[in-house]
Amino acid sequence: MLIVDNANKTFSGSERKTIALKNVSISVNQGETVALLGASGSGKSTLIRAICGLERLDTCSGPITVNDHIIQINGKTSENVREIRSSIGVIFQQFNLVNQLDVITNVLIGLGPQKNIFQLVLRRFTMDEKALALDALEKVGMVDYAYQRSSTLSGGQQQRVAIARALVKGSKLLLADEPVASLDPESARKVMDLIVNLSQQFGLTLVTSLHQVAIARKFCDRTIALNRGSLVFDGKTNDLSRESLANLYGSQVGDIEMDDELSHSDEVKRPQLVLVN
Ligand SMILES: Nc1ncnc2c1ncn2[C@@H]1O[C@H](COP(=O)(O)OP(=O)(O)OP(=O)(O)O)[C@@H](O)[C@H]1O
Ligand SMILES: [Mg+2]
Repeated sequence: MLIVDNANKTFSGSERKTIALKNVSISVNQGETVALLGASGSGKSTLIRAICGLERLDTCSGPITVNDHIIQINGKTSENVREIRSSIGVIFQQFNLVNQLDVITNVLIGLGPQKNIFQLVLRRFTMDEKALALDALEKVGMVDYAYQRSSTLSGGQQQRVAIARALVKGSKLLLADEPVASLDPESARKVMDLIVNLSQQFGLTLVTSLHQVAIARKFCDRTIALNRGSLVFDGKTNDLSRESLANLYGSQVGDIEMDDELSHSDEVKRPQLVLVN
């Protein structure tokens, strides 16, 4: 479903060079739920942006393939990158909703590549398209809000709308960049539960960067971890040891683990989770 072969990315500023990704290779099967962990600046967002073709890798990089379509290779994006990108659902921390527009229009924007900008601005959508959007909103429990302005929604509600938009696109791959980082622990858990449940229900492959290790443990079977742009762990989330977490996050590890109340209760009940290896 997703293959990243030898991804490298260097950002060259006038003052210094930053190596954001270094020889990163991963392969994700259809239907997997994968957490992407790593300290701030470790390259998570760069990798997600590269997978959806928004960031061009260095020319020494191999291909990134989504559903057998090459999205970029040797630092060049494919000619049909927009078309391939339209098959990828992307959810960001900032929800990326247009605040002034109502909820249903924000969902219909998911049909973007099939519409020209005037159709979008003038909200020219067919009855079938509206029915599709309402159906997606129903699935995420937001149909009652269809005609409400997006700016009036809570963070968790906005994230639900963002998921509905990915659903109308008919995406098979869902990429999420810290989708619950700006939510309180309770909403974070609910929204994550929703994202994972919907992906499983629709057979989607989910790759999500996360700030909270406890959330990765609860929802993602597999974890891929980056440290300063290099892949340092790829395996079962349960096999992440305290030692590997300490390597990943340095002295931040205590904060990261305690980020979520889940880790408090789980550590008491299941200490082996952090002690394996
Ligand atoms: N457009 C850019 N120009 C220059 N440097 C960049 C750019 N984008 C990212 N970087 C650098 O690349 C590195 C990786 O950044 P990235 O945003 O991928 O990290 P991250 O793991 O997503 O961090 P966070 O957890 O804070 O979101 C960082 O050192 C960052 O400063
Ligand atoms: Mg990031």
